[in-house]
Amino acid sequence: MAELGVNIDHVATVRQARQTYEPDPVWAAALAELGGADGITVHLREDRRHIQDRDLRLLRETVTVKLNLELACDQQVLDIACEVGPEQATLVPEKREEVTTEGGLDVVSNREAVGRAVQQLTDAGIYVSLFLDPDIAQIEAGAELGARAVELHTGQYALAKGAKQKEELESLILAGQRVRELGMALHAGHGLTYRNVRPVVQIEGMHELNIGHSIISRAVMVGMERAVREMKELVED
Ligand code: PXP
Repeated sequence: MAELGVNIDHVATVRQARQTYEPDPVWAAALAELGGADGITVHLREDRRHIQDRDLRLLRETVTVKLNLELACDQQVLDIACEVGPEQATLVPEKREEVTTEGGLDVVSNREAVGRAVQQLTDAGIYVSLFLDPDIAQIEAGAELGARAVELHTGQYALAKGAKQKEELESLILAGQRVRELGMALHAGHGLTYRNVRPVVQIEGMHELNIGHSIISRAVMVGMERAVREMKELVED
């Protein structure tokens, strides 16, 4: 059975739209836990467009399930991560102009920077996952750097339709197999919705799914606890 990590960044996006105090992602995390979330995921971006340092620090005190921090290989954010101490850190690429994380981390071309980040986080006792495209060379490079898990980027699968979506699913399956052969845990996320999540849940050895936008979108209509519970039912086999 895969675990469900609920990404609450977009609760903070709504708050930051007015630079005010509501809605509070800390409340959202508590409600997500009530709905059955196995983990709470937040991305502390260099530009602080949604999650703020204050959110991360309060979440560290209040979240009772796994806290997973997404971050870029940026020294300032890495130092905050090591000080705050989430159970898990997921290294992602980051571009200021992007709307959301657009692709996986390029470990092959950035071995040194990624390797340093993996080492620093590992030394701080944090379990490190790398957000990678379903690309065998990237996965092998990630294993060499000592990552404990790989989160496969499901964005292309989520965007594709019909036969193309089957092809994208097939490459996720093959990549997932390689992740497990190399002794790493298999995670997946990005663009997953109530409609497209099931085939990803069924990939052999799937251990964790991180889902944000679709859950928060549903939560606006039906409430956070119910939105999380409905996704949790789909993630359970
Ligand atoms: N996993 C990673 C590494 C991400 O960067 C994101 C987006 O913040 C997600 C999962 C969740 O993506 P979505 O909001 O499309 O569900």
